[in-house]
Amino acid sequence: MERLFNKEKYIQRRKQLKEKVGFGVIFMPGNFHLSMNYPANPLRFRQDSNFLYFFGLDSPELAGVIDVDNDEELLFGPEFSVDDLIWTGQVEMFDQRAFKVGVSKVFSYSKLERYIKKTVEEKRKIHFLPPYQGEKKIVLSEMLGFPVAKLKEQASDVLIKAVVAIRSKKDADEVDEIEYALNNITAEIYRQCMSVIRPGIKESEFASIAEGYALKHNCRLAYPAICTVNGQYLHNESYDNILKDGQLLLIDAGSESPMHYASDITRTIPVSKKFNTQQKEIYLLVLDMQQKALSLMKPGVPYSFVHKNACEVLVKGMIQLGLMKGNVAEVVEAGAHALFFPHGLGHLLGLDVHDMEDLGEANTGYDETYKRSQQFGTRFLRYGKELHEGIVITVEPGIYFIPELIDQWKSESRYSQFINYAALEKYKNFGGIRIEDNVLITNDNYKILGNLIPKSVFDVEAACNL
Ligand code: GLY
Ligand code: MN
Ligand code: MN
Repeated sequence: MERLFNKEKYIQRRKQLKEKVGFGVIFMPGNFHLSMNYPANPLRFRQDSNFLYFFGLDSPELAGVIDVDNDEELLFGPEFSVDDLIWTGQVEMFDQRAFKVGVSKVFSYSKLERYIKKTVEEKRKIHFLPPYQGEKKIVLSEMLGFPVAKLKEQASDVLIKAVVAIRSKKDADEVDEIEYALNNITAEIYRQCMSVIRPGIKESEFASIAEGYALKHNCRLAYPAICTVNGQYLHNESYDNILKDGQLLLIDAGSESPMHYASDITRTIPVSKKFNTQQKEIYLLVLDMQQKALSLMKPGVPYSFVHKNACEVLVKGMIQLGLMKGNVAEVVEAGAHALFFPHGLGHLLGLDVHDMEDLGEANTGYDETYKRSQQFGTRFLRYGKELHEGIVITVEPGIYFIPELIDQWKSESRYSQFINYAALEKYKNFGGIRIEDNVLITNDNYKILGNLIPKSVFDVEAACNL
């Protein structure tokens, strides 16, 4: 059965939501069981994070309703019969579960459609969040009377902004959950991966360590693990390659906590248990980028500024290595560094690995003052606005040598005043390095969450040689 916080927390969260939304009816359905290859063979169930946050219950076929005008909270859920018990065994009754999250008005799920349709007929405002699951889109479309294609634009801006404001700031219990995932599961994944690494084994061995450790704790990964010797391709999720001497293995994996809070860590590990000189130079540069970023992190500092500073460290280092040339600020202004760092420095982390991405990055990561850049590379920065106390954000700089991108830019002579294409030839088989940690913004500073997972050259090599 689901693990829950104290019921007061859910009551408080819904109270805040009511105050921020101010009027109408908030309709928050949970997620559905999705079929894998036939209806009775479902994919692993994952509850919707918004529903988890405000209503806590962790099973399919549930819907929460907050009638703001009448100050009423309702939960619709499954009726449980002996016929069901034959398949599932005893389960805790729905009204008991609802009571634990502070909701006393419970109804059978079969009553939901009538309730919503009646509310529509009464012409009351129904606030809902943009759905991302196909099944939920169909159900919402039928109940609310909008075509599926119109659901996104009909979603409630007031509700989206209220949810983002409330979920962005993590309380101590939430931070504990993230640290539980980091310390008890994700750190173990990395220690184990570092201790077994050697030439001759498959990438899939590392994916199995990641999935296995999470499952051993009755948790699951927060996203499919990336375990690849082709770290230059950012979200490469195939595990077919056999590790060879001299390669780098990039592992980006993070477990959920028992209450579904995500962790999101990346380490890059030398297959030969020791970095060669070329690898060490680039690795140290990525570490410098991360260190520079961290040194700037505190409330009030825009993350786009932190990102830009990390890019400047990258360019300075690349000039020293003879791979770039020119004035550092001009290179970054022009966007030439994105050949090596084509993604953003980080994103919010919480119940989702990209926290609240379903609510739109324009709402979670940008605001009236800080708008998303249109420039290649920086436009993939998922959070550009000011940092504030209580947010958890990833800091994940990387340096990648993507042969196809290098060849394309070279053939166009793109930024040839800044990029030394001839010197890059020696790096075309390099791969990529990313280093990622999870950071809490405190009232005047930052804190890297979790205990240290080996990261310095010395510590990584030592962990590989245990
Ligand atoms: N693991 C996905 C990411 O780092 O954004
Ligand atoms: Mn990340
Ligand atoms: Mn990651």
